[in-house]
Amino acid sequence: MIKALKGMKDTLDPQNRKFEYFIENTTRIVKKYGYSFIESPILEETILFKRSVGESSDIVGKEMYQFTDKGGNDVCLRPEGTAGIVRAFVEAKMDRIGGINRYFYYGPMFRYERPQKGRFRQFHQFGCESFGESNPLEDANIIIMIKEILDFFGVNYTIELNSLGCPTCLPPFREKLVSFLNATEGFCEDCLRRRETNPIRVFDCKNPNCQTLLTPAPRLNSELCQACKSDFDIVTKTLDSVNINYELNPNLVRGLDYYSKTAFEFVSSDLGAQNAVAGGGRYDKLVEYLDGRPTPAIGFAIGIERLLDMIELQEEKREGYYFGALCGEAKESLFSQAHKQLQSDKVIHNYDVKSLKAHLKGADKAHARYCAIIGEDELKNGVVWIKDLREKNEELRPLH
Ligand code: HAM
Repeated sequence: MIKALKGMKDTLDPQNRKFEYFIENTTRIVKKYGYSFIESPILEETILFKRSVGESSDIVGKEMYQFTDKGGNDVCLRPEGTAGIVRAFVEAKMDRIGGINRYFYYGPMFRYERPQKGRFRQFHQFGCESFGESNPLEDANIIIMIKEILDFFGVNYTIELNSLGCPTCLPPFREKLVSFLNATEGFCEDCLRRRETNPIRVFDCKNPNCQTLLTPAPRLNSELCQACKSDFDIVTKTLDSVNINYELNPNLVRGLDYYSKTAFEFVSSDLGAQNAVAGGGRYDKLVEYLDGRPTPAIGFAIGIERLLDMIELQEEKREGYYFGALCGEAKESLFSQAHKQLQSDKVIHNYDVKSLKAHLKGADKAHARYCAIIGEDELKNGVVWIKDLREKNEELRPLH
């Protein structure tokens, strides 16, 4: 038997019903905040992710599904959504038109990671990207929107916040951090590699020994320039003003290199080791890195599998009709009756001749509200027998 690849899953009901419920309601909420749907390809040139997510990140360095296509192009399956949306934005010359543009998207992402609970090689994200707004109130607004989404689904979470600085304050901080790392012995291989490629990523190290060694390390939140500090103050004060609780986490550096200023994660103790249900932040330089005009931007993505893992669906409500025949002669009338009903209701049509008991079972399994049956007697009398499976009563309606 051929099986799905490791870390990749088929989704059938009831998971799919949860997926639809999630997409429907999250779409409704983000549209209220002015986001409109955008879609970009799943396959992109590898260079796009190298230039945006960053060559030093684990995602690009270790986890990409990268290959050469039949035309000799170096391509890869998208490991995340932001890079493709920014490319699409620049390609459509939206950076030249200017103004504020807000987009949402959802779909599969691919990372060749070691699969574990909540971590897959193919997973789905629901993301939002807002272009053109440099005001930090937009950062607060996005966090409030994510909160509204997660609250709608009734999940538990904590908001973690940090500022990752900008090209003014990050380079001097990086130098200071590298001096500290050079003067401290005992860091793991990964941290030594990060010291050379992207030093602030050491704060993301999961090794407890490295975390202990980092206790006296300088932290970016106390080295921010005036502009970054003042923007971050606006974000936190705005969240305070609407009573949104958050934790400042100076170790929050995110696994993608394009961020500057506000960065955040929504983490939940109801998930396992992979506890981030959503993450995002500002990326004011990315449009420029991808050859667009300077355009401030901020966004986030929710990990759909992780969110769905935390929600329970209500028992599916009974809806529509199930049509079944008790004899071969009834099939024709049943078919036309079912199609008339289809003009106004959901209809499941069973084509086989079966016993009443079998049809009632089928209607129940299909979560139909009504089971509509035609047999010899009904044909003779020009009626269809209908049982309301919710109210448990029955009636005869004329065939038409
Ligand atoms: P990210 O933090 O890499 O950010 O991913 C966002 C969310 O996707 C995570 O919080 C997690 O819930 C989910 N996720 C990530 N990897 C996996 C995996 N292997 N299996 C299951 N779920 C996973 C981004 O991707 C950014 N593009 C977010 C963003 C948008 N920033 C700005 N705009």
